[in-house]
Amino acid sequence: MSDAVLATINDLPITLATTACEIASAIPGASKAFVLNRMDWCCKGAMSLGDHCREAGIDPVAFLGEVAAAASTAPRGPDWRRKPTPELVAHILTFHDAHRRDLPALGHLINDIEVAAPGRWEEIQQLADTWPLFAAETERHLAYEEENLFPAVAAGDLAALGPVMARLREEHEGHDHRLADFRTWCEDFRIRRTNNPRDEALRSVNDLHRRLEVFELELMEHMHLENNLLFPRLAPPA
Ligand SMILES: [Fe+2]
Ligand SMILES: [Fe+2]
Repeated sequence: MSDAVLATINDLPITLATTACEIASAIPGASKAFVLNRMDWCCKGAMSLGDHCREAGIDPVAFLGEVAAAASTAPRGPDWRRKPTPELVAHILTFHDAHRRDLPALGHLINDIEVAAPGRWEEIQQLADTWPLFAAETERHLAYEEENLFPAVAAGDLAALGPVMARLREEHEGHDHRLADFRTWCEDFRIRRTNNPRDEALRSVNDLHRRLEVFELELMEHMHLENNLLFPRLAPPA
């Protein structure tokens, strides 16, 4: 029964047919539950809760319990579905600024760990090998949006944006796959315990894990705002 209400969270009655986008948009903190269960709500925002849970092999009621728990501690923010487009774009650009700070800083941290403890962790080698290309691609993506998408949106010049958005959606999927690799390599960003307080390299790995997890959530939130909220407003009428 896809129309039976499984839970009501933040005044949103949720059924198996409720989309991931609706849940993530209406419930602050829900995005964390999606990430921790490896459910891609940003590139598959139109997919229903039932289909997401089936794909991830997760019980929907248990998942909604996690969403409710996350919602109970998350600060309530603006509902970006209802904000005017210029405000939404300005908000998206704050993610661009954050990524431009984080991408080089995380790259330096990865390199520092690799230099301090060469070969000690396979994940650090994997990150050291892939981060420069990922960072360069992400920075190119941000610049492409700033040159080809946002000025056209500000000018109301939407007619030629179809191919631009198609390219951006494809690149978002690439980012999403890369983030999934990082989470896999880093064992869900597990914090490692040690009895040696002088193990600086391990402390740095734990710091890296915490920061990568924040970066992952921010990049996915950013892609959700574009894929699920901004792009549908710009699509030319069929
Ligand atoms: Fe963006
Ligand atoms: Fe983007």
